[in-house]
Amino acid sequence: MSKKPRPLPLDVEPHSGPRIAHTTEVLAADVLLERALDVEARAAKRRSVRHFSRQPVPRAVVESLIRTASSAPSGANMQPWTFVAVASADLKRQIRAAAETEERQTYASRMSDEWRDALHHIGTNWRKPFLEDAPWLVIVFVQRHGIAPDGSKIRHYYAKESVGIAAGTFIAAAHELGLATLTHTPSPMAFLSKLLGRPSNESAFLLMPLGWPTDDCSVPDLQRKSLDQIAHVFVDGDQP
Ligand SMILES: Cc1cc2nc3c(=O)[nH]c(=O)nc-3n(C[C@H](O)[C@H](O)[C@H](O)COP(=O)(O)O)c2cc1C
Repeated sequence: MSKKPRPLPLDVEPHSGPRIAHTTEVLAADVLLERALDVEARAAKRRSVRHFSRQPVPRAVVESLIRTASSAPSGANMQPWTFVAVASADLKRQIRAAAETEERQTYASRMSDEWRDALHHIGTNWRKPFLEDAPWLVIVFVQRHGIAPDGSKIRHYYAKESVGIAAGTFIAAAHELGLATLTHTPSPMAFLSKLLGRPSNESAFLLMPLGWPTDDCSVPDLQRKSLDQIAHVFVDGDQP
């Protein structure tokens, strides 16, 4: 008896799993633009902060921000991220010491002249006091693959892209609350896996201090690129 041929993957029914309704409020064009400009104005105020006050941020707020970050889209919905939130003074001290050890070497000898020049206007150096001052350090790990209950590997798709989007969602949500973050990448970051006891399928992706800026906090006077520099728009003649 001949077997029935399996359908080509292209022919598989796209809506194979259970589904739920999803709707959103469609705003009138003028309201839409007003809201867009309002969101833009608030986003424009986000800055990377390197001077944090020691004023605390409640744990429940940090947990909420992590849940918000975890609402990000991810390749095949694998949600390939782990957020580690540290408020322990001792652990922050250890993270600062390890980060400064790496950064000292990076600034002294690992960094190319080109990289050093590109950073000059920001005014960073190997010292990272904010790693102890900020009430929280939120470290985002990328799970290069998942691990099934039987120990086998679960493949993750676009893991880094997904974690980048989740981190961006976290930063934007924190900013909405008036909280400051820094997207910090002490290089190399392997010490974070060790200090925080993360498994071998995870790599540190970003270290984000989270808290309030100091009263006298200043940031570099940076220019953002104009729309003309970053966007190309194709429209039909009748499009508003
Ligand atoms: C992937 C990434 C890595 C970064 N690493 C560092 C870092 O290690 N240390 C630091 O002080 N800033 C770091 N930054 C922050 C950038 O310097 C900052 O975003 C940029 O200068 C623009 O400033 P703004 O965030 O205030 O708009 C990093 C930003 C990104 C997106």
